[in-house]
Formats: sequence, C-alpha cells, structure tokens
Amino acid sequence: MMKETNVMEIQADINGDDIAEAVPVRMHAADFLRKRCGLTGVHIGCEQGVCGMCTIVVDGVAVKSCLMLAVQLDDCTVRTVESLEENGGLNALQQAFREHHGLQCGFCTPGFLMLATHLKNSGKRYTLSELREEMSGVLCRCTGYEGPVRAVAQYLGDQMIDDGLPC
Ligand code: FES
Ligand code: FES
Repeated sequence: MMKETNVMEIQADINGDDIAEAVPVRMHAADFLRKRCGLTGVHIGCEQGVCGMCTIVVDGVAVKSCLMLAVQLDDCTVRTVESLEENGGLNALQQAFREHHGLQCGFCTPGFLMLATHLKNSGKRYTLSELREEMSGVLCRCTGYEGPVRAVAQYLGDQMIDDGLPC
C-alpha cells in the first residue's frame, strides 16, 4: 500500500474546471486525466512517447501525457480533446477533420486534434513539408495521413506557407 508521502496535492485548471486532487507521485498524467477526471478522450497507445495518442495541451503547448507525471500538472492549464467543442457542436478544427475525412477508426484523432490546437496557438507559419513533419508525432494506422494533413492545413489557414506542394 502506498505511503502518505507518496501522494501529493495538485491543483490545476483542467478544461476550465478548477481541480484539486491528491495524486500518487508516480501516476502519469494520462492515467490521472482518464481515471480521476473521466477524460477518456485522452487515448493511451504505447505509453512510451512514440504514438502521440495521448497528446494534450499544457499551458498552450502540446505534450505527450504518458511521459508526464500528474504532479507536473500542478498550477497548469490543461486542455484535452473534450475542451474543443463549441456550443455543444464541433469546432472549426473538428469540422475540418469531418470535411476532409481525417479519421477512420478515430483512435489517433484526439492526438491530432490537440497537436493541431498547439500549432494554432503557436501562431507560427508552416510549409506543407513542415506541417507533415509536425504531424508525424502522431501515428495513424488508418488514414494514410492525407485527410488529417488537409484538415489541419485548412484549420491553420493563414499560418500555412505555400511551398508549391499539392495538399
Ligand atoms: S501513449 Fe503516449 S505517446 Fe503513445
Ligand atoms: S484513424 Fe485509425 S489510427 Fe488514425
């Protein structure tokens, strides 16, 4: 049984809710979000930082939540895929995935959506090649990437630089 000293109090803004919890110091953030917060849109694939399924946005930056401890979320602003809906419907990014057939089984989709949210937050501009490189951090076994890349390119709009490659 875990000793009291192996538990730490954290407080975080998670999808707009102030959450205060005592968490085991060795629990990773993905497990915390899924099991303690009920945010099962945080998908877990490899648990070793390879697949990107567990990507969330912490203080505006995309991170792989299987590589982060829950205690590192203390005092942070955390956003998961559950935060994206607008007025009970799809936001512009989710709409773009729908329009461009950016998903099949959907298991990777929360990872792509949160990565794209980070790219938008960054305000940086991307060539199509750079966008493909950024999106390579999420593995998709179904789509061949064309739909997700087109969807994210549409969502980024003016942040895309025309490098002459067909999208
Ligand atoms: S589950 Fe986190 S990167 Fe695969
Ligand atoms: S849509 Fe199935 S893994 Fe990407």
